[in-house]
Amino acid sequence: MQPVVAEPFSATREVHVIPTLWPIPNVGYLPMNAFLLHAAEPVLVDTGAGLLSPQFLDALASIIRLDEIRWIWLTHEDRDHTGSLNRLLELAPNARVIADFFAIGRLGPEQSFPLDRLHVVTEGDRISVGDRDLTAIRPPLFDSPSTTGILDNSSGVLFSSDCFGAPLPSLDEAAVTSIAEIDPLTLTQGQMSWAAVDSPWVTSVDTNIFARSLDKIRRLEPTAILSSHLPPAHGHTEAMLANLAAAPDAPPAPGTTQAELEALLATLEPADSQ
Ligand SMILES: [Fe+2]
Ligand SMILES: [Fe+2]
Repeated sequence: MQPVVAEPFSATREVHVIPTLWPIPNVGYLPMNAFLLHAAEPVLVDTGAGLLSPQFLDALASIIRLDEIRWIWLTHEDRDHTGSLNRLLELAPNARVIADFFAIGRLGPEQSFPLDRLHVVTEGDRISVGDRDLTAIRPPLFDSPSTTGILDNSSGVLFSSDCFGAPLPSLDEAAVTSIAEIDPLTLTQGQMSWAAVDSPWVTSVDTNIFARSLDKIRRLEPTAILSSHLPPAHGHTEAMLANLAAAPDAPPAPGTTQAELEALLATLEPADSQ
C-alpha cells in the first residue's frame, strides 16, 4: 500500500480536484484533496502532502501555469494541507496566502513564512478574487483551531476542509469522482469513524448545541460540498449532515495499541530488503 497522487479531475465547471489517496492499514484509503478554483484570480485550496510534493506539483502544473495562481488558501496548517507550501511560494511568485493567523503560527520550523505574502482571515471575512467573493467559514468539525473552510458566494460551492471526510475501504472507492458512487452505509460508517478520530472532542459535546453548527451549513444551501477527505458531493447535504448529527453520540474512537503496531510492523518488509 503506497500513497498516490491521482489524475486531477473536475468536481464542478470551475473546480479541479488534485487528489492524493493515502493508505491506512487495516482500514482502506483516505482521500486527501487539494482544489483549484478557476476564478478570475485563480485560487489553490491547500497544497497536498509533503511526502508526494513532486508528484503533486506535476499534477497541479498539468491544469494551470503555476505563475498564474494568485491565491493559496490554507484551510489549516496540517501537513496533508501544507506539503508543497514552501515550493509553491517559489514556483507561484504571484500568489498570496490566505489563512487564519494562528495557522501560520502553527507551521513547522522548516516552513518559514513571509508575512508580507499573507492575507489573514477570520470567520465571516469576505475576500474578492476578481470575479467573486469567498467567505471564510468555520466548519462544524475540525482538528485545528485555525480551520477556515470557504464558501464561494458565486457558485455556492463549500470547501469544508477536514469536515465530512471519510476513509473508504478500497483504493477504487477512494478514487471515485462523486460520492454518488459510494454505498450509503459505507459512507455513513466512514464519516462517523472519521468524525470520532479527527475531531475526538465531538463525542463530548452537547448534541443540541452541535446541531446548531450543522444548521449553519444547512442554511448556506451549498450546491456542492468539497471536503479535503472525501470525493466531491453534489446534492447529498442532508444525508451528510445526518451522518454528522449522530457523531456526538458515537463511542470515543479507540487509539492504536502497541499490539496493533507490532502486528502492522510484522506485515511490513524490512527496510534493507527493499
Ligand atoms: Fe487536519
Ligand atoms: Fe486533513
